[in-house]
Amino acid sequence: MLVLGIESTCDETAASVVVDGKTILSQVVASQIDLHDLFGGVVPELACRRHIDAIMPVITQALNEANKTIHDIDLIAVANGPGLIGALLIGIHAAKGLAFALDKPLVGVNHVEAHLYASMMSHQNPITLPAIGIVLSGGHTSLLYIKDIGKYELIGQTVDDAIGEAFDKVAKLLSLPYPGGPQIEKLAESGNADAFKFKCGNVKGKPFDFSFSGLKTAVMYTMRTLNLQEKGVIENLSASFQKTAFQDILLKAEAAAKEFNCRNIIFGGGVTNNRYLRAKFHESYLNCFFPDFHLTLDNAAMIAGLGYHVYKQNGPADLYHLEAKTRISFPIFS
Ligand code: KG4
Ligand code: ZN
Repeated sequence: MLVLGIESTCDETAASVVVDGKTILSQVVASQIDLHDLFGGVVPELACRRHIDAIMPVITQALNEANKTIHDIDLIAVANGPGLIGALLIGIHAAKGLAFALDKPLVGVNHVEAHLYASMMSHQNPITLPAIGIVLSGGHTSLLYIKDIGKYELIGQTVDDAIGEAFDKVAKLLSLPYPGGPQIEKLAESGNADAFKFKCGNVKGKPFDFSFSGLKTAVMYTMRTLNLQEKGVIENLSASFQKTAFQDILLKAEAAAKEFNCRNIIFGGGVTNNRYLRAKFHESYLNCFFPDFHLTLDNAAMIAGLGYHVYKQNGPADLYHLEAKTRISFPIFS
């Protein structure tokens, strides 16, 4: 089954053609980083306008690179949430227009769930389930119990900043370009991670929830007492912040693995690009499954891949009722 995936939840316009949920024939991403860097973060209205310009050329390029025409496509899968409402609408309307005009089935895909599916696509052999899922991105920090594809239980999430957002905000404080995650990782390589003692927040009664806004504020107050021009200061701040944030995630992931009796842990999201994070988890007793590097950030291959399973499980969506959702819950099993 040939699936055309479409992604426009935030600041990337993407399209991809995938066979049977696994084999990627093409993957095109039009990034808007240049546009948002000017403002130090994503400006929703600008993102939306850029999606309008990019969506059809990106879809055309994905079909061309796959050596297919739109008529060859068996199913259209579009990310319908969570995300920025205006941005989501562009992808959804493009997908609906194509599905309606060409009489093709359409499915809506949960973008966060698709980040986890990106790891499943990255491994030749199916990952043994149940497993713990962990999504670390610019918009999400979620811990899930994955019973099967399409069957999840949300066991923890951030109560304030997402982990990628915390990286981006700390980077902004340090006057680094957007997105800040890769900048902090690079600076941290030559810094002393024990130079400053920071800590992350815990949520009373919710052992698997996260809180990073206090950590970000602590970095800000510490920063004010320092001369950032002094050699090694920014590097030490970056390394100490990064270590603290990832140690918290590791401890909570290990606790969740213990509680749910799963050693397999499946990762997704842009922050999993971070090699220090990967190394720390590989040192733990968990069996870690990371997405291939080309599938960590927002992309449409993961949407097409998961879309195949959504269609197999639930059939096509109703064209008139598929909506953009800024928040979307996981399909829960009982
Ligand atoms: O998954 P993604 O493309 O977007 C969302 O769905 O939110 O993730 C983007 C986030 C940004 O916050 C970016 O700073 C972060 O991923 N990121 C990183 C790294 N590469 C990207 N964070 C830490 N280390 C990295 N190497
Ligand atoms: Zn994402």
